[in-house]
Amino acid sequence: MEKIALVTGASSGIGWSTAEYLVGKGIKTVAAARRIEKMEQLKEYGIYTVKLDVTDTRSIDRCLDEIRQNVGEVDILINNAGVELLGPFELLPMEEGRRLLDVNLFGVLEMTRRCLPHMREQRWGRVLNVTSIGGVGSMPYNTWYHLSKHAVEGYTRSLRQEMNPFGVGVATVRPGSINTAIWEMEEPRRWNSDYQEAADKVVRYSKDQNVELGKDPVLVAKAVFKAITDKQTKLSYSAPLHARVVLFLSKYLLTESFANRMVCSAVGVPFKPKN
Ligand SMILES: NC(=O)c1ccc[n+]([C@@H]2O[C@H](COP(=O)([O-])OP(=O)(O)OC[C@H]3O[C@@H](n4cnc5c(N)ncnc54)[C@H](OP(=O)(O)O)[C@@H]3O)[C@@H](O)[C@H]2O)c1
Repeated sequence: MEKIALVTGASSGIGWSTAEYLVGKGIKTVAAARRIEKMEQLKEYGIYTVKLDVTDTRSIDRCLDEIRQNVGEVDILINNAGVELLGPFELLPMEEGRRLLDVNLFGVLEMTRRCLPHMREQRWGRVLNVTSIGGVGSMPYNTWYHLSKHAVEGYTRSLRQEMNPFGVGVATVRPGSINTAIWEMEEPRRWNSDYQEAADKVVRYSKDQNVELGKDPVLVAKAVFKAITDKQTKLSYSAPLHARVVLFLSKYLLTESFANRMVCSAVGVPFKPKN
């Protein structure tokens, strides 16, 4: 495939696996992240690596100029860079929430705006936004993350309609539980007594669930490849299998109240259906 794919957040986890997988499939691939030194090994696979901070518009412009000069125009953008933030919404400083949105939401928007002109003009392109099953459902003490992923899901739906006449496919890729560095969190933080126990449980659950039971990121890379190669891009792609099951249940079978009880009891957080 004579197309150029740019994967953001490729210094680790899903981004790394995706870059490695796509180049293995013959797609010219560019890997971008802040820690360019962590991507040395990707160069050995024939991947072009570039420094990128998606929260900094100058960094984005420099990154895309460098790609233009050394590789070519981006035909396929994989907005994968992302961060997590757990804690009680009431007590998390707004500044921390804004920082998350700068990466998970505004970073996606800035990158996409700059890559669309070439895709629109050539009447072909792909914008693939890595959201999460958490872009459809939710878990307590993870409000900022869900806010960002739900926002990207909504934005994808609208942009998809807008870009359709120009042959640009826009879709989300929704991973389930994947074992990556995103779960290497700091030690539990101090909150107040109303929140402490539940917040600690969520942190512990997130780590245990995703590290011990989390799947190989290459499964998400395969879903990305499918989204690139499908003749007609679907609205969303999910991986691995448990993600597809959860999404199916939440779409067709689970009531909101049942889903709340299920999630909260899995995490070990109280939920009173009558409240
Ligand atoms: N792991 C899961 O279970 C899971 C589940 C659902 C969805 N996801 C989503 O999958 C995506 C990838 O996550 P992951 O699990 O692979 O996590 P990860 O291993 O921690 O990788 C996150 C990547 O994002 C990059 N990044 C963070 N801030 C950035 C910034 N300001 N500018 C550019 N790059 C930045 C990091 O690179 P640098 O620090 O070098 O910049 C890193 O390469 C995220 O969007 C995440 O929300 C993950």
